[in-house]
Amino acid sequence: MRILGISPLDKDSTVSFMEDGRIVFACGEERLSRVKLQSGFPHLALKLGFERTGWTPDSIDKVAYAFFDGDEEARLIRAAQAADAKFQSADKLAASAATYRELSDTDYQLDQSVRIPGLDDASDEFMPPKAWWKRAIYQATASHPTLDQRAHRKYYREWVTNAIADHKKWSDELERELDGYGLRGKLQRFQHHDTHAANSFYASGFDDALVLVLDGYGSGCCGGVYRAGEDGIENLHRYQFPYSLGIFYEQVTSALGFRPSRHEGKIVGLAAYGRPELLRDLLLHRFETDNGDIRILAAQNYLITRAMALRFAKRDVAAAYQNVLELVACESARYWLKETGLKRVVMSGGVHANVKLNQRIFEIDGVQSAFVYPNMGDGGCASGAAMLAFGHETAKGKPLADAYLGPDYSDDEIRMALQAEGLDYEECGDDLERRVAEVLANDGIVARFNGRMEYGPRALGNRSILYPAKDPEVNQWLNDQLGRTEFMPFAPAALAEAAPKLFKGMQQGVAKTSEFMTITFDCTDEMIRQSPAAVHVDGTARPQLVTPESNPSFHKILQHYEAMTGISVLINTSFNMHEEPIVGSPADAVRAFVLGNIDYLAAGQFLIPHPSGRDRSGKAKAKAIHAAPSISS
Ligand SMILES: [Fe+2]
Repeated sequence: MRILGISPLDKDSTVSFMEDGRIVFACGEERLSRVKLQSGFPHLALKLGFERTGWTPDSIDKVAYAFFDGDEEARLIRAAQAADAKFQSADKLAASAATYRELSDTDYQLDQSVRIPGLDDASDEFMPPKAWWKRAIYQATASHPTLDQRAHRKYYREWVTNAIADHKKWSDELERELDGYGLRGKLQRFQHHDTHAANSFYASGFDDALVLVLDGYGSGCCGGVYRAGEDGIENLHRYQFPYSLGIFYEQVTSALGFRPSRHEGKIVGLAAYGRPELLRDLLLHRFETDNGDIRILAAQNYLITRAMALRFAKRDVAAAYQNVLELVACESARYWLKETGLKRVVMSGGVHANVKLNQRIFEIDGVQSAFVYPNMGDGGCASGAAMLAFGHETAKGKPLADAYLGPDYSDDEIRMALQAEGLDYEECGDDLERRVAEVLANDGIVARFNGRMEYGPRALGNRSILYPAKDPEVNQWLNDQLGRTEFMPFAPAALAEAAPKLFKGMQQGVAKTSEFMTITFDCTDEMIRQSPAAVHVDGTARPQLVTPESNPSFHKILQHYEAMTGISVLINTSFNMHEEPIVGSPADAVRAFVLGNIDYLAAGQFLIPHPSGRDRSGKAKAKAIHAAPSISS
């Protein structure tokens, strides 16, 4: 049976071609349109999928989608709003307002004993000054419960109007475009978070698990809890909208001057430098958590975060939000683990892009195994919806082997792209991996383009930039060169067999999920000593463990590198231009390589020196040629 999964069209629209419960092709539209998080019907990805799989529209049995139609989503949105009107009251916000007023009267000094790379000037630590009337509004809503409440109602009404219009628009577009392929009659729709739950459980390979879905919004809710096992996936609880941890975190991302739904990772990195205790109580006063549920008072009043950012440094605001996210999510997870007696946790939904939160959940007493779906955001719902359309009996027992599910390109196609750009290249055949390791061992930087493209937000060695992890200054230097602000180091790729000596708590129960860079671990002294460029200020790293089964070529590169240097870790950051999607085709790779001034491109079996012709060996020379502020992860 063939099922085409399509993820929500509002952002990062993605197709997943599934045959008898296994993904045979999956690709986000952004990789082909070259527009980050591309919205709309994924025509390009669908057509490429047809080409690569040989499927035709007629051969498809079902189309699966991760939202109900516009009318049903509108009904659920209004029902959630009506329920929230009964829950909210200004009285409950008194403690939050009192705490904010107290904080306004106390001394606050930024702890400057630790500098944050990228925030060189003390003024960078704070948001730029706001106009007097903005300051007055922010402070008033934070200090007065009635105004806090009114702001929530106002912004929630606006959110409801926009969300209903958006759902109708995307639902209509989905049906209209499917009609063009003759597929509208095969469309099957699912509750949004059920699709997240399905992808994480079925991909995990676990026999049973507690399924935790924490998200922004979906089908009237913002997440759910499930018990999954031999008999299927049973919903135990739904976290009701608007008490959304996804929106909670978006609010701090936006208030600190970053782009919500895109730059949340920067907040996670920044948080490690701050003092969470300064603003923690204020935030905790805005939560009600009992019996495994999470509710947020005046959840849509995003001005409260801006009021905090008027006076407190970004690092301290970020630290409080991260800490409170971890506290409330872990409290809920603990409750459901106890209720069910389950020892394994699987996670999906946008909030689980937060690698530090995932570590905290894995560290809960009694948890023996954890798995985070590699495409935990809505792009992954294409696969989850398809799994639900197959049904439990077909979907079970088919763990995800790897995330290399996108298109690949032949050596002939790569050669044509190189020739089109007039690049000199060397055919290395079986010696390619050793040659790449040699460049890296000489402190060179290599862009690797090989095999099938990764499914999900992380580059895992097939569309990656690789370089040595031994010099922590390289991170900041590279960030400067690339015109980006990152507060967490780039992630390490490591030989899987070396993991126990590099990362603490590494055990069988997280080996699989550690192949996808979705969870942090505390690093060992050896890791900190050998590969400091990959270790964050809090002593953690977000590794990709590379096995010979998942990526033989990347594993060989690491093996050769280890033989040459004694170090089993390299930095792996995504291969893309600044704020562009990860490269998809050989032509994309050649363009990013040339404009990015990377020392070498290793595409398929070809090794290509940068056409500037300079000697790439040696760190100083390698640094000198990285002049263009153009690449980012
Ligand atoms: Fe979602």
